[in-house]
Amino acid sequence: MKRVYCDNGATSYPKAPFVGETVLDYINNIGCNVNRGVYSTSFKAENTVYETRELICDLFNFKTAENVVFTQNITTSLNVVLKGLLREGDNVVVSSMEHNAVMRPLTSMKQRGVTITKVNGNILGEISIEDIENAISENTKAIVMTHASNVCGTVLPIRKIGELCKKYNKIFIVDSAQTAGVLDIDIKKDNIDILCFTGHKGLLGPQGIGGFLIKEELVERVSPLIEGGTGSLSELEVQPTYMPDKFESGTPNVPGIFGLNASLNYLLKTGLESIYNKEIDLTSRFIEKIMNIDEKLLIGKKDIVDRTAVVSLDFKDLDNGIVCHNLDKNYGISTRSGLHCAPSAHKTLNTFPRGTVRFSFGHFNSYEDIDYVIDSINKIYKTK
Ligand SMILES: Cc1ncc(COP(=O)(O)O)c(C=O)c1O
Repeated sequence: MKRVYCDNGATSYPKAPFVGETVLDYINNIGCNVNRGVYSTSFKAENTVYETRELICDLFNFKTAENVVFTQNITTSLNVVLKGLLREGDNVVVSSMEHNAVMRPLTSMKQRGVTITKVNGNILGEISIEDIENAISENTKAIVMTHASNVCGTVLPIRKIGELCKKYNKIFIVDSAQTAGVLDIDIKKDNIDILCFTGHKGLLGPQGIGGFLIKEELVERVSPLIEGGTGSLSELEVQPTYMPDKFESGTPNVPGIFGLNASLNYLLKTGLESIYNKEIDLTSRFIEKIMNIDEKLLIGKKDIVDRTAVVSLDFKDLDNGIVCHNLDKNYGISTRSGLHCAPSAHKTLNTFPRGTVRFSFGHFNSYEDIDYVIDSINKIYKTK
């Protein structure tokens, strides 16, 4: 049976060329820790780790490689940043399109006296700038927002939100899980203070590696969530305050960083414009053909303006979970059904609690894949 992977919103597959080889090469031929040993393989590994920070800087137009912190994924990054920054009495503004990686840490922080103001999106998952502006209050410390919905692909206007943050002197934290490696994100032009990323989706790297970029002015205001050995200042029993050691305790995922290095090199060489153009072209073909089957299937935006390659369908009188299972079992198509860790987004899109079947296309999908998926959906839908 043909196999078509359409779950790139969860994690990308396949990865960029040479990611697997690079990880394996590190494990088989280098293998040592970083920032601990004083021998040549350790220096080699440290150079690659530093170079990976620089590649992240190149991708997001950031200048300070030391302020690129590696974590295990964006969930960890968001937890570190939100729990380290917000204090009793602080208010934070979010959109209703957020993933639970934002909503769960914030919700638990209500017990510490943090308040959340949620700006509701419309049925297309769009958030109005005026509504965000109206939500900002004197106590608002930060605006935390996803760059694009992981449920319906709607892109949020981060540049305009960044301008608001500048105007009102608020901290702007962006969840780039669904856009990094596909859409242009420019820390400077978008006025982002803290950019959180995950390595295994659009960045086409391995799982278990993510991070965040933090502007120098904010480093002091965020306390570390995890403290421990850094291989530096070992005579002290307090955490170093300099970067990136402040936030990087314990042995890092060096194989993951090597893999990310390979994928970032691929992305920078290929260019995001070409990656985005290919993905949106595939998405456009998919949407057009779905509209021909039944336009009521499609949740959220019906066009390709301000959207990513994530498309949700609701099969209404069929069970979406069973459709997802059927697509895999009988057609070899991998999708994801349910609520996609984003109940608030589904409420906004009026698909809560039934959820949807999410098709998320990637850089390595083809027209042939799209046509095969459409054909399979047609068979399932027409024989219901
Ligand atoms: C918008 C968004 N934020 C956060 C996450 C969490 O990503 P990770 O599992 O890599 O921490 C995801 C992934 O599902 C996502 O789509």
